[in-house]
Amino acid sequence: MADTPTRSPLTSTSAWQALASHQPRMAELHLREIFADDPDRGERMVVQAGDLHVDFAKHRATTETLELLVRLAEERDVAGRLHALFTGEHVNTTEDRPALHTALRRRRDDRLEVDGVDVVTQVHEVLDRLSAFASRVRSGEWTGSTGRPIRHVVNIGIGGSDLGPAMAATALRNWVRDDLDLRFVSNVDGDDLVWALRHVDPETTLFIVASKSFTTLETLTNARHAKAWLHERLGSETQVERHFVALSTNAEAVSAFGIDTENMFGFWDWVGGRYSLDSAIGLSLMIGIGPTAFGELLEGFRRIDDHVREAPLAENASVLMALLNLWYRNFLGASTQAVLPYSDVLARFPAYLQQLEMESNGKRVTVDGQPVDHHTGSIVWGEPGTNGQHAFYQLLHQGTSMVPCDLIGFAEPTDQSLVSEHHDLLTANMLAQAEALAFGRTAEEVEASGVAPSLVPHRTFPGNVPSTTILAPRLTPSVLGQLVALYEHKVAAQGFLWGINSFDQWGVELGKQLATTIASEIADGTDGDHDSSTTALLRRYRAMRGEL
Ligand code: F6P
Repeated sequence: MADTPTRSPLTSTSAWQALASHQPRMAELHLREIFADDPDRGERMVVQAGDLHVDFAKHRATTETLELLVRLAEERDVAGRLHALFTGEHVNTTEDRPALHTALRRRRDDRLEVDGVDVVTQVHEVLDRLSAFASRVRSGEWTGSTGRPIRHVVNIGIGGSDLGPAMAATALRNWVRDDLDLRFVSNVDGDDLVWALRHVDPETTLFIVASKSFTTLETLTNARHAKAWLHERLGSETQVERHFVALSTNAEAVSAFGIDTENMFGFWDWVGGRYSLDSAIGLSLMIGIGPTAFGELLEGFRRIDDHVREAPLAENASVLMALLNLWYRNFLGASTQAVLPYSDVLARFPAYLQQLEMESNGKRVTVDGQPVDHHTGSIVWGEPGTNGQHAFYQLLHQGTSMVPCDLIGFAEPTDQSLVSEHHDLLTANMLAQAEALAFGRTAEEVEASGVAPSLVPHRTFPGNVPSTTILAPRLTPSVLGQLVALYEHKVAAQGFLWGINSFDQWGVELGKQLATTIASEIADGTDGDHDSSTTALLRRYRAMRGEL
């Protein structure tokens, strides 16, 4: 956060000033008192968005707080900015293009002209090609070069070209056909590729090289080695084209890599990597779960798009999530937020949201290039419950940092064969944790329970940790799409509130440039021009490899 002589457009709004005046009282107010003063909030402070029942009651926000936050959204024209997002205005200002991921799930008969082109028609043309290809793989009509059907699908990609399909393939593993094995390789650490190819039959393996730019070091390195691996095992004459397809916006680079552009599925520069699960980047998932279930995923996204477009700000789940996160980030000192899915299959969801939120809103200048005078994106982290309860929840309950939490649960397990005892216990834990975080246990209550006086401070829970609980009937493809869209729009709304560009990611460039320089120095055996620490580490690395 840099010093600025004048207030930014955000902090000079009257709502921001009013929130600042409101803050001291709220910083002191406990959720116990908030509930005592407003006993019906549990029934009232919920929003139904599609199948998602989103409970906002356990937030450190009174009716007045929410009114002020909504006023802030009005003053920042969040509704207008969301409309601009949905209609294809160039909201990604530094790259002068739209962020039109919502077009990826529009109905076939919809029309949306952007810069003179109907993008919905383009989207459905690619979706049709993807569906046809996925169906051919699933039916066995598309075979490997020796005529055997595909059984292993290895997605090679990183960041947005990995996290979405990898997260969804785990979340929807009960929908993935048993005879299809989906694998994901992302890291330039060779261990990743080697492990992914263990026990994989090259004759029945399809590699999907997923890269929007098709210039990403990790992906191209892995893809090159995958090709060599295939040649080694099937012979240099093998028809590689039966085993490699590409997902990209860069046909030239795909072709230069040696993949026939007939076997390339495209998307557009207006699809950001972290917003691309529902584009061609979802091909591995589509092969696994089938085009029909993939269509249900898209329908889920669309339901939340409709909610976000139509609901007033005060009843808009994504906007409320954004506003409450801003409240904690900018007024109550929170620097992180935890995402705690009470669902084992959502194990990768926090990692997925890390990229979505942190790459989008980890920004320090406004869209006009002015330094912000307030904090922006917070650190997102989390693990599924109940595992996390036995690991890091201690800090949530008794540590010194306040961490707002999102708890995500379902009325039914994804695998219906599970005994219901498991699921009721899982849900009981989720509800218990949200209750314990909010209300804690006072010293008086601990004393009254007969605990030795010396232990009372150790066994006291301050509470007042806010949370959102999201409850849905069952984690289906549609509900997964709804969850992802809910967070996509939360992130966008937050960026609009903060006045930053949530759709670029220049911050990842410097490290990439330096790595390229250091990689050539390692190859050449030169020291380059670095600080003393980097130079010493480089030399130590060479020494450890026996190269000095
Ligand atoms: O380096 C960050 C990033 O550009 C992400 O935004 C993106 O999702 C990832 O790299 C992968 O990029 P690509 O799909 O172009 O390989």
